[in-house]
Amino acid sequence: MQRTDVIKKLPTGWRIPTEVIEKLPTGWKIPTEVIEKLRTEWKTPRDYCNPPGWIDIVLGLLWGDEAKSRVVFDLSGNYDIVARFNGGPNAGHTVVYYINGKKIEFVFHQMPAGILHEHVKVFLGNGMVINPVIMQKEIDDITKQGIDIKGRIFISQNAHLITPTNRMLDAAEEWANGGRIGSTQMGITPTYLRKIGRKGIRFGDYKYLRKYFYERYQESKAEDIKNAKSLGFDIESYTIDGMSLSEYETLWFASLEKLFQEAEIVNVEWINNQIADGARVLGEGAQGGMLDIDFGTYPFVTSSNTTTGGLLTGLGVRASYIRKVIGVTKATYVTRVGKGPFPTRMTDDDEYGENLRQNGREFGRTTGRPRDTGPLDLVALRYTAMINGVTELFLTKIDVMDGGGYKTLKICVGYCVNGEVVYEMPYKAYSRDVEPVYIEIPWCEKAILENGALADEVIDLCNLIKDYTGVEVKYISYSPNSGDFIRL
Ligand code: IMP
Ligand code: MG
Repeated sequence: MQRTDVIKKLPTGWRIPTEVIEKLPTGWKIPTEVIEKLRTEWKTPRDYCNPPGWIDIVLGLLWGDEAKSRVVFDLSGNYDIVARFNGGPNAGHTVVYYINGKKIEFVFHQMPAGILHEHVKVFLGNGMVINPVIMQKEIDDITKQGIDIKGRIFISQNAHLITPTNRMLDAAEEWANGGRIGSTQMGITPTYLRKIGRKGIRFGDYKYLRKYFYERYQESKAEDIKNAKSLGFDIESYTIDGMSLSEYETLWFASLEKLFQEAEIVNVEWINNQIADGARVLGEGAQGGMLDIDFGTYPFVTSSNTTTGGLLTGLGVRASYIRKVIGVTKATYVTRVGKGPFPTRMTDDDEYGENLRQNGREFGRTTGRPRDTGPLDLVALRYTAMINGVTELFLTKIDVMDGGGYKTLKICVGYCVNGEVVYEMPYKAYSRDVEPVYIEIPWCEKAILENGALADEVIDLCNLIKDYTGVEVKYISYSPNSGDFIRL
């Protein structure tokens, strides 16, 4: 057999170590350009073993809205890539920051918050479901502020597209079940259903298999309409953002086409090669651990894995790349928007809860709904810290109780289930099944002292959280503005 044949049979991407090439017997014919590629460009599996790059992850630990994106934004100056790996426009990630002294509030739904740093590339992984109309609006909002996005947006070819009728079907289902889940109605579940049912459409289909793409699109549309009709949903009067379905469809295709000009559609090698070349990646989780499809309060959850495992499959990377898992939670209380179990949920007439909602601006950024509030839940926190392998904690919104006259802070340290106190998450965490066991610790008028130090009560809280979850509190933020956080 000729040597060139040998080389041809090697899998693509496989590199013969230089030492080996140099020792090849005389007479072996290897095209010089192949040798050059082998020596320089192509990666070998060895390059992925101990790469100079790594991944840190920022994850919400409870039911979302922990203020993850401000954490991502605050930390992402030290990273080269910020990557989203799950969910889609159901997320509402708020970042408040100043450009030339002007306060600007961005609410991102799909775009990783790192886009605001011009040295950062953003990656939307295969685990995401993406609506191009919403993505295009995000791009427009960012560029309007003079931020250059050119060459900085990368989307996995395996990410799935949320079509207009996927979104309509989500609304139809929520309508038909009387708002049982409290879904954001962004089309998340119908799109993931099609993905798992092996009928989804992906960015790669639009790039490489246009005919197949259109066939699948029409098929999906027909099925979604049929399903919505069978639920008795009034399709004719359904509007999306003030548009009829067909108007929205036109915009959807235009946005998709435009997105292909502004973003690069890449394969899974892209992120792996970036890390092999030394990229420092920050994974940006969406929703929270208690909304995870497997470990959350099922069925009142979102349709993706919001936890560390979701990052591995949602980007297509090795577990060994992960360096830190930064768990985010609000320092003194918990919120939930939408329906479902929330053991420390306060009733509507509870002043404690109402004050928290107003002071903490606890209204959904995607839907505008008021969020339910309740005391900090260390049982749930311990549970998701365990599942995610959290290595450090970032507490947010420590200022929300300031000046509220709170002398004590109520904290849930166990659940009473069938008369027995447990600290593991019960199979059913409905409030009728679970009675929180509270302790009260002394609280302060101001969490951060004039000299910038933490009040003793805050330090005691951090110690309690560490004892309970086994994880150290490393950061505390004290205002919605980016940069306003303390590193412990
Ligand atoms: P879906 O993900 O839109 O299907 O909604 C399922 C549940 O997850 C509902 O209770 C939503 O309110 C909740 N949810 C989805 N995304 C978020 C989020 O980003 N923050 C908080 N709750 C969310
Ligand atoms: Mg949110």
